[in-house]
Amino acid sequence: MPLLFITTFIVITYIITKQMEKGGIRGIFVIANNQAQLKVVIIGAGYVGLTTSVCLAYLGHKITCVDRNHKIIDSLNAGEATIYEPGLQKLLRDVKRNLAFSTCLIDAFDDVDVVIIAVGTPSKINGDADLSAVEKVAEEIGDILNKDCQPVIVNKSTVLIGSARRVETIVKTRLERRGLKYNFFVASNPEFLREGAAIIDTLYPDRIVVGANDTHSINVLRQLYAPILEQTFTPPPGISRPMAYEVPAFITTNPTSAELIKYAANAFLAMKVSFINEFAGLSEKVGADIKDVARGIGFDKRIGTRYLEAGLGWGGSCFGKDTKAIMYMASQYSYSMDLLQAAIKVNYCQRFVVMEKLQMILKVIRGCTVGLLGLAFKPNTDDLRDAPSINIIEKLIELGARVKAYDPVALIRFQRQFPELDVECCNGVLELSRDCDALVLITDWLEFSSVDWEKVGGLMRQKIFIDGRNMFNKDDFEKNGFTYQGVGR
Ligand SMILES: NC(=O)c1ccc[n+]([C@@H]2O[C@H](COP(=O)([O-])OP(=O)(O)OC[C@H]3O[C@@H](n4cnc5c(N)ncnc54)[C@H](O)[C@@H]3O)[C@@H](O)[C@H]2O)c1
Repeated sequence: MPLLFITTFIVITYIITKQMEKGGIRGIFVIANNQAQLKVVIIGAGYVGLTTSVCLAYLGHKITCVDRNHKIIDSLNAGEATIYEPGLQKLLRDVKRNLAFSTCLIDAFDDVDVVIIAVGTPSKINGDADLSAVEKVAEEIGDILNKDCQPVIVNKSTVLIGSARRVETIVKTRLERRGLKYNFFVASNPEFLREGAAIIDTLYPDRIVVGANDTHSINVLRQLYAPILEQTFTPPPGISRPMAYEVPAFITTNPTSAELIKYAANAFLAMKVSFINEFAGLSEKVGADIKDVARGIGFDKRIGTRYLEAGLGWGGSCFGKDTKAIMYMASQYSYSMDLLQAAIKVNYCQRFVVMEKLQMILKVIRGCTVGLLGLAFKPNTDDLRDAPSINIIEKLIELGARVKAYDPVALIRFQRQFPELDVECCNGVLELSRDCDALVLITDWLEFSSVDWEKVGGLMRQKIFIDGRNMFNKDDFEKNGFTYQGVGR
């Protein structure tokens, strides 16, 4: 019996070692189903970096997540998630064994297989993407690469065409300054997660895209994502595998195509949202209901049902900045992108549709109290970047309204990020509604579906409800004495 045990152990160890040699991986650990455990450094602990870190740690890889923001790292080291994302807080604590946080890149660098860049790429004033954080990270990597460590450096941040090459050049230049010439690899691996569903999207993606000019990078990233590509892991509690989900596509291409895939995906989704909002305006004119129109076209498989919800338009950290970046990039080639240009314009105007409705019903906004239900750009996140709520608040204040707001998770972030906006933050829908002349639904949080609107109406000065996300039925509100208006209905 002991002999059988020893022989089995030797055979398994041999198979595993061979498997790892094939991928050029240095560790000796394995995770589920003989998949290799990689040592990974993820730079940036924001929505993408933190989610990716937690999920890859859950899958068994050894992760160090590095952020230059000491407050973020202190909080994460104390087991407290710094962003709101369903399931993240629990998973963060559950994966402690495989996940470390640090402000110091050099400490994390020993023997690392993969370095993932997940820092922000915000818009510059001219619309171009600001790649300075990515470039800074590339410099830091070039300053600490050593002869024992030739990782695959991965651009996960959304970056302009040519950025993989740019990162490669920067790292090479920094090495040369140190009189060194090492082998290293750069790949593009754009991220498609949606805030509010970030963990689900990371563990159960539709596809994983890798752009690289060498097979080593592709092999290593295939190993990194093997548990996802083969769906060999047990789903974390509460984050079950979606019904009928199979396995994601693994798309390999050159870096430029990978970089463009990310922008094309966001541009397409943004155009879909603007398309339905443009039809929402027409529906109001002709007496159609945009929800029925969207349903009617969405069942056509060529069109699909998603991203066809009329409302206040898109917001958040990606669509706005990415569409602007594409426009800027195209202009550098003297290429005009008329469809996208129109989608951006439609989206901007859409934010003020609720203002028009308020003015139509209230006539004079000055002196009125308007309560905003939700601030985040969409439910299940506390992200306020490019949120329609901010434009609407600014406009309401400019028109002389008193503004109150309630959001289940984004209030603290709102107070921190927008201290200049004179908004009365409330602790619940009832407190919000007191003395309001109108309520405007900005974010379709699930908790709003169980509000007692009759009671709410009893607290308001005037029972006016503008449903900026078409979350409710007109009849339900009208039977409680409300004047109700949705978008495109
Ligand atoms: N948020 C999304 O839904 C989403 C989805 C897909 C892709 N993306 C892309 O992913 C990238 C990251 O987005 P995010 O929303 O996670 O950004 P974020 O702003 O939430 O996080 C970025 C983090 O990087 C850190 N950072 C910046 N420079 C650094 C440096 N030199 N060293 C260490 N840390 C540094 C910042 O402190 C911050 O915590 C962007 O390019 C974005 O376009 C975002």
